[in-house]
Amino acid sequence: MPTVTVLPSGKTTQAASGTSLLAAIHASGVSLKTKCTDTACNGSCHVFVVNGKKSLSKLQRTENEKLDTIPGVTSKSRLACQATLGSEDVTVELVGFDS
Ligand code: FES
Repeated sequence: MPTVTVLPSGKTTQAASGTSLLAAIHASGVSLKTKCTDTACNGSCHVFVVNGKKSLSKLQRTENEKLDTIPGVTSKSRLACQATLGSEDVTVELVGFDS
């Protein structure tokens, strides 16, 4: 079961493969304020994946198109509601540093 570490707080949680990154972040006790749920609607769950990016689910068209509309996106960017965990540990950094 992979461990998800959320920066900058450093809080961690373990979650089953297939769990959304957003659900894992919330399970760690970190409040990531989103204005939508699971629909890639406004990009408020934008995070930077510091480690373990290759373990996450592949970027799908809906997420990719949404990321294209968000300022500050880098090659480490994912939408936490769209990315699901694989088998390896993942470290993410919150863009707005909510904790
Ligand atoms: S929760 Fe809205 S884009 Fe992810």
